[in-house]
Amino acid sequence: MEWTREQKYRKLEDATIDELTQLEKQVAQCPWRQTFHIQPKTGLLNDPNGLAFYQGEYHVFYQWFPLGPVHGLKYWYHLKSTDLINWQDLGVGITPDQYYENYGAYSGSGFEHDGDLYLMYTGNHRDENWVRHPMQAIAIMKPDGQIEKLPEPAMKDVPEGYTDHFRDPKVWEQNGMYYAIIGAQRQNETGCTVLYRSTNAIDWTFLGEIQTELDHFGYMWECPDYFELDGKGILVFSPQGLEPTEDKYQNIYQTGFIIGDTLNLQTLKFSHGEFSELDNGFDFYAPQSLEDDKGRRIIVGWMGLPEIDYPTDKNGWAHCLTLPRELKIVNNRLYQVPVIELENLRREEESLSTIVDNHVIEFGTGVHYELECEFTDIQAQEIGVQLRVGNDEKTVLTYDAHNKKIILDRSQSGMEVGVDYGTTRQIAYERDSLKLRIFADTSSLEIFINDGEFVMTSRIFPTNDENKINIFATNGLVKAECKKWNY
Ligand code: FRU
Repeated sequence: MEWTREQKYRKLEDATIDELTQLEKQVAQCPWRQTFHIQPKTGLLNDPNGLAFYQGEYHVFYQWFPLGPVHGLKYWYHLKSTDLINWQDLGVGITPDQYYENYGAYSGSGFEHDGDLYLMYTGNHRDENWVRHPMQAIAIMKPDGQIEKLPEPAMKDVPEGYTDHFRDPKVWEQNGMYYAIIGAQRQNETGCTVLYRSTNAIDWTFLGEIQTELDHFGYMWECPDYFELDGKGILVFSPQGLEPTEDKYQNIYQTGFIIGDTLNLQTLKFSHGEFSELDNGFDFYAPQSLEDDKGRRIIVGWMGLPEIDYPTDKNGWAHCLTLPRELKIVNNRLYQVPVIELENLRREEESLSTIVDNHVIEFGTGVHYELECEFTDIQAQEIGVQLRVGNDEKTVLTYDAHNKKIILDRSQSGMEVGVDYGTTRQIAYERDSLKLRIFADTSSLEIFINDGEFVMTSRIFPTNDENKINIFATNGLVKAECKKWNY
């Protein structure tokens, strides 16, 4: 169905109870509803927003269009948790009801100030000629959970030199000052980020552009996030407009990071190494991070991409968030490790320790589970796992030792999704061992390789009850130690 502008920008408040109940029913009948991921009750979820550890609880908001699986009028939906696995549903956090957000409360972040949780986000304002004037607004959540907006945006104008693609403020506190990094597009249509500073979290001064070595790197950088970890500066962002090169940049838009010395807040110079993608799977975008009371840097992403149809659309909803991952620096590389709390989801355990020799071995069944497989002494040409296997469907993760690639293949996973961007993703890899930790939910796989050195995150849409789990080796043998826990 084609959505008209009027339908896309219809307010939730204008929908009838009947209509919403109908939509909820339609969503509930969808065979691809997740069981341990944050997903919208109806409509479309996109970026995680306002991530914060505040008063002993983790807060997550997400971009939400309630009335259908399209990018319409965006609200912020709010959840909180004490353990990162059980989420309390707090309903709508931000309703786009002010003039400065007449076409949506876009992405932004959360930070504590004076005992309150401040939320700074982009008001997607459009004038009567449909010209966009992005403004950066502030909402304040009191300790009792009430959220109130400041009547006027903190930043009303886009600084000179930048287009109306100017959004997604991420705020952090450093040396008694607040800094807000914003995703931007220069007048020459290249992407970058800019920085603002404030002493009171309300009045903000434009400092300028963050100087990186990536002056011509896509046409827009969305959802920037800057933080420091183990004395290093890390800038995560989602650049749009990169051309696919070899195995890289295969999705419609990318998400990655640059890492280097800490950002110089005087000169705004950031010296850094190469841009690396955060995730090598099919569905990962616009992540955001928080730091908790244990000093952990935890990141959550949107398990979806813009401008791509998903099979759940016809059931009235789309997308979910990824599991929370802790970021760590190991041997000078950024690792992503599923937060330890997830182990509390483990129920019945099954294990297998064997040599697979030119063979496919069935190792149980499952739809929602965690699977760990350690392959050593790899002598076979290809080894790997087949998941959600049925009569004519399967999703396959292969290590091709001959061509030195790890390959995720979803060409036979079920309903097609994003096939214009290919049906395989691969990573260059050359070792004689491989460790996989896979979180499978009804319609997603999050595959952590070698304790978080690489991650491949992907939605899959099996059409029946495909649920076999196979381990295989072709042309030779491999030693496999596997464990599986039902979730
Ligand atoms: C990224 C993004 C952001 C924007 C939001 C709108 O997915 O386009 O740049 O703020 O989504 O929903």
